[in-house]
Amino acid sequence: MNVRDAIKTRTSIRAFLDKPVSEEQLRELLDQARWAPSGGNLQPWRVHVVMGAGRDRLVETVKQAIAENPFANEAELAIYPEKLSEPWRTRRFEVGEEMYALLGIPREDKPARIQHLMRNYEFFGAPVGLFFSVGRQFDKGQWAHLGMFMQTLALCATDMGFATCMQEAWAARAKTVSAFLGLKDHEQLYCGMALGYADPSAKVNELRSSRAGVDDFTTFITE
Ligand SMILES: Cc1cc2nc3c(=O)[nH]c(=O)nc-3n(C[C@H](O)[C@H](O)[C@H](O)COP(=O)(O)O)c2cc1C
Repeated sequence: MNVRDAIKTRTSIRAFLDKPVSEEQLRELLDQARWAPSGGNLQPWRVHVVMGAGRDRLVETVKQAIAENPFANEAELAIYPEKLSEPWRTRRFEVGEEMYALLGIPREDKPARIQHLMRNYEFFGAPVGLFFSVGRQFDKGQWAHLGMFMQTLALCATDMGFATCMQEAWAARAKTVSAFLGLKDHEQLYCGMALGYADPSAKVNELRSSRAGVDDFTTFITE
């Protein structure tokens, strides 16, 4: 698969097959992704992989934490600005509505929408979860590098036939997850990622989000 095809083929997958991925395959994937660039070649990322019984234990731990305190928000950084202005507000709204339309969940059915959101905490059924963290000493630059690493990994995963969904949703349970993973005080959890094989029969996986055109985000200065 060439890079262009990988970029177009990768989409966020929110329903996975119950089909295992081996540690050997994950090692091969991480071995590819580590070639992502970073300023000063710092490679500031750190990855934790949960799979098999480890994955199930994490899912159970978070499920219990949610049952004990359903409204807790353990996020250390705001996932979105409190007041999202245009055009970003509409973009977020539209992709959400497109997803819920495929799931057949109307706006009024809040419990069903919440139930779908909770699927995040089961990796949407994926057999593997990855967690990405970064040292607290680092600032925005290194966070951007972590993002490059994550996208590089997602594209390599696509090339290997895997499906992924990046999951900031885990940030809402950052304390619980960080304790489970054994993150040190100087490490900050950013994001999770579900990884496995896409369920081709799931309607939600048909979601193809739109993008702004080149001229909406690019300025050419030619003279
Ligand atoms: C850093 C990051 C975090 C994300 N977190 C979540 C999440 O928690 N749950 C979810 O369902 N989708 C999540 N997404 C998926 C986005 O909604 C998705 O990338 C966007 O709508 C574009 O769609 P596409 O990935 O299918 O191209 C996340 C994406 C990124 C890049």
